[in-house]
Amino acid sequence: MATESRPEDIISTLERLPMLTQSASRLLEISARADHDPREMMDIVRTDAVLTSRLLKVVNSAAYGLVHEVDTVERAVSFLGERMVVSLALENSIGSLLQQELPGYEARAGDLWRHDLGTAIASREIALRVRGACNPDQAFTAGLLHDIGKVVLSAFLLHSASELQEKVLGREDEDYAAAERNLLGINHTEIGHALAERWKLPEMLRAAIRHHHHPASAPEEHREIVYTVHLGDILAYMCGKGTGADQLFYHLDARYVEWIPLTADDIQRIIIAVNDEMGRLEESMQS
Ligand SMILES: [Fe+2]
Ligand SMILES: [Fe+2]
Repeated sequence: MATESRPEDIISTLERLPMLTQSASRLLEISARADHDPREMMDIVRTDAVLTSRLLKVVNSAAYGLVHEVDTVERAVSFLGERMVVSLALENSIGSLLQQELPGYEARAGDLWRHDLGTAIASREIALRVRGACNPDQAFTAGLLHDIGKVVLSAFLLHSASELQEKVLGREDEDYAAAERNLLGINHTEIGHALAERWKLPEMLRAAIRHHHHPASAPEEHREIVYTVHLGDILAYMCGKGTGADQLFYHLDARYVEWIPLTADDIQRIIIAVNDEMGRLEESMQS
């Protein structure tokens, strides 16, 4: 299947994918702006009855053990944080896409969503620890969407995983994304970027999706957040939140220290924080 597909054929499959709900689209747009007002998010949540009831269900779940029931959007959002609002909005909007099995990557159902959440949490933790770095909520949202292209490319990579791995190991290809490109003429970052354009995602999110494997190639105004997601992505793999076939075939761009100066000690703390937060987030989202 892989060798018969041209990039144009792969791009044309985007038309069959669902669009984001209006509320998810607006929430992503707001959270991608560094200077947004949290009240803007609350206004959007209030217009979406399904999202509102999901949010209230989560905040009142056993995972948070609150004594008094929360019954307003304001209190739910301020208690759960914007990251939970964005995660639930995406899950409500395109959850079936994000949680599906990705056979082309040998990833089980739910693996990509766990990897996305792990990357989002790690990216946010990085942003929280670096003084003057990008906004932690922006970093979270960018981490959540960075690998969206895999949901498209998976169908074209069936039975190709060992071939791609061998090419990276034999140094025929630089990394897994390069091997995807050499096989199909397009890789998951490029098709993800095309999907982000179709969904009209903000420029910052498009840059994170397009450049997260090679952050130095991102436009300068987005380079810091793209380096943050690049490192967050690798830390998610280190925490065991991978997507299957490609996880050991990914290079760290060591120039990240120029943008996000972290010590080995910081990285250890981030890994602990990711594992803690991941458990909490998964438990509350299962409610
Ligand atoms: Fe990726
Ligand atoms: Fe990733």
